[in-house]
This record gives sequence, structure tokens and C-alpha cells, in this order.
Amino acid sequence: MKVLIKNGRVIDPLNEVDGKMDVLINNGKIADMDKELEAGENVRVIDAKGKIVCPGFIDMHVHLRDPGYLYKEEIASGTRAAAAGGFTTVCCMPNTKPVVDNAAVAAYVRQIAARTGIINVLPIGAITREQKGEQLTEMADLIAAGCIAVSDDGKPVEKAEIMRNALEYAKMFDLPVLSHCEDLSLSRDGQMHEGYYSTIYGLKGIPAAAEEIMAERDIILARLTGGHVHICHISSQGTVDLIRKAKAEGIRVTCEVTPHHLTMTDEALGTYDANTKVNPPLRSAEHIQALLAGIKDGTIDCIATDHAPHELESKDCEFNLASFGISGLETAVPLIMSLLDKEFDMYRMVQLFTAGPARVLGLNKGSIGIGDIADITILDPDKIKTVDPDNFYSKGRNTPFGGRQLKGWPWMTIVNGKIVAEDGRIIEE
Ligand code: DOR
Ligand code: ZN
Ligand code: ZN
Repeated sequence: MKVLIKNGRVIDPLNEVDGKMDVLINNGKIADMDKELEAGENVRVIDAKGKIVCPGFIDMHVHLRDPGYLYKEEIASGTRAAAAGGFTTVCCMPNTKPVVDNAAVAAYVRQIAARTGIINVLPIGAITREQKGEQLTEMADLIAAGCIAVSDDGKPVEKAEIMRNALEYAKMFDLPVLSHCEDLSLSRDGQMHEGYYSTIYGLKGIPAAAEEIMAERDIILARLTGGHVHICHISSQGTVDLIRKAKAEGIRVTCEVTPHHLTMTDEALGTYDANTKVNPPLRSAEHIQALLAGIKDGTIDCIATDHAPHELESKDCEFNLASFGISGLETAVPLIMSLLDKEFDMYRMVQLFTAGPARVLGLNKGSIGIGDIADITILDPDKIKTVDPDNFYSKGRNTPFGGRQLKGWPWMTIVNGKIVAEDGRIIEE
């Protein structure tokens, strides 16, 4: 089937495109792009007037929970949440049961994704066996089974020696090492950001230093080894400063920031709603300002959700016992769009969701050019809607953004030339 997207504003930062253009899709690929294309026969025409036509959005950090935690999420539900949220590709973290630490588990994830998923799923393998931080995984096997990066996300690689070896080994395959930076001796038993509000609310704090110390260690090891370290979910001013400095020095370091760390402060924990409990924690307004500065000056490479769905029971309990995490796929794009104009423009936003993550991971994705696979995200900058977790496709309803009215939402998600979501709803075959 042919699809013609007419009258939209095409933004493709990888190709430095920003302008009104029609896009023709044929057989799952971009067949033509021009100022004005005629529909012809047997073509479905989509009028994208007033909409933004972008390369398919990539979320390089999600937890899909399969295998092992299907009561939290499944690849079927997680990819539907992603499609509804405007994403055409997600990379899934290996902290499953069993851990994705060998080729068989990675192959399993890809098989389930092919059978039940509705968007592209790229698995991330573990850095160490069972994510125990002791022995490295067979990264060559993981790559052969389709893994595009390695990470022990959910926890840090505690020993510097292991991280050093991981960076050295991964470098041989040009594989990025995604690091969850947390000094456990500083964060232990912490519930929220350490600062004014943790004192007022009486909750044990997690200092920004817990993240910064590990980020600095990883940067030093990247300098030592020449390996590529990617710092996950950066949340503090100190981390932004360290990465800015390291990049200026030519060290191979990249980083991501989540929508929640950009849009909600630690003050929100005052409700004692466990949906505000996330790791790293929501921090103060000053930290948010530093993150926004990092987006503006290019220190931050991409936006990733750290989509961490949980079942109700693990949030609806004593605060200290609640799991960390926010179900983020279905609110990421509108949360970031709510920052437009005030903080950065549409072009930069699209870059952070497309060319940014594609470059970090070395993926042949994140652009729309003739001959490319037709993965496309179309945004409606004028749409106003209120977040309603009851309508999530994700099994995880754990969001602190329920009830928030947001302007600017994904309008259409196209994967491999097929429309998989429209106006927040999934189009099933
Ligand atoms: O909030 C979080 N949730 N942070 C993590 O590092 C892990 C994640 C999860 O797997 O639930
Ligand atoms: Zn993490
Ligand atoms: Zn994570």
C-alpha cells in the first residue's frame, strides 16, 4: 500500500531538513520526498497540515520486563505503549529474569518482539553475568544475537576494575556501555533527592554526589580505555558539568536525560505518592535548570524515558518499600513538547528523539531519506489532552503525571510503512 503524507512540516535533523514537504511511502520505504507530490491511484492520502513529520522516534532506554516480570509489562503491551507515545524503536534493558546475559535470552526477546511487538525492539545485553558485577558477559555472542549495547542498568557496576575491563572489551566491537551511575554506599536506603524537601518530608535522601562520583569514575575509565561510556538518566548539575568537560577533552562519553527529570522537582514527593519515587530521584529546580542548559549547549545527546512499569502492589504500599520507577512511554513526548519555545525549539526536540539516540548507538536509523525504511512519527503541536493512566497501553499505570493537561502530542506512528497508532490509539490489523 502506498501512503502519501501531504502538507506537513518535515523536520529531519540528521539531514538538516526543516520545511514543508510531502512524503510518499511505498512498500515500507520512503519512495519520494518533494515540495508537492501528486497522489496517483491506490494511494492513501494523509493530510498533515499543521503537523510535524519526523523520523520515527527512538527510545534507547526502556524496561519491557520480559522474560520474568510479565505482570509488570509484556513486549506486546510495552510496544503498544511506545507506539501510542510516538516511538517506532525502543531498546530494552536486560534486568529481566533471567537476565539478558547470553545469546539465548537475547534471541528469546527478539522472537517475542517479532511475534507480539508492533514496533522495532532492539535488545541491550548485560555487562556482567546475572548483572552481579563480577564476570563479563560474552559480548560477541550478545552482538551476534542482536544486542546493540550492554548495560547492568537497575544497578551500577560497582567495581572499577570490572568497568574498566568492560569498556576495553566493548571497545573491540565498538559497543557502547550504558552506565547506571550510583554509588550504593551513598544512596543506600534513600527514598528521594537529598536536600531541603527530604528534610521537610522526613525521607532519607540520595545525594547528587551518588551519581556524580560514579559518572566521574566512568569518565576517567573511558579516558583510560578509549571505550565509549554512555551515562544513563543524568539528573544532576554536577553530572552535566563533568560530561561537558569530558566531551571538550575528546573523551568518548554520551548521555541521556528523562522527561521526568526535566519536568518535575523533588517538591512533588510531598504527596507521598510512590509514583514520584524513581531512581535516580527527582531533583531540585536548580538541577533542572542545569539539565536544560545541557540540552541547549549539546552536552546532552538524547532523551530516553527509562520507562519502568510496575504492578499496582509494588507502588501501593509503604513508601519505603515501594519500587523505584515511572511508566514513561505514553507521556514522554507531550512532557517534552510542553517545554518547547520556553527552553528549546522543535528542531532540537526532534533531534533529541531521533538523530541523537541513533548516533549514540550507531544505528542506521533516525532520518527520513528516499530509500530509507519508513519509520515516521507525526506530531500535533496544537493538541491538548489530559494524562489519564487508566487509558495507558502499558501495564504500568505508575505515573506522577496523571491529571496533568499537556499541549503537543504524537498524532501518528508509522513503522515500516504501516500506521500503528493514530491520535494515541493503536490501529490493530
Ligand atoms: O527507577 C528505576 N526503575 N530506576 C532503575 O534504575 C531501574 C528501574 C526499574 O527497573 O524498575
Ligand atoms: Zn538506571
Ligand atoms: Zn532503567
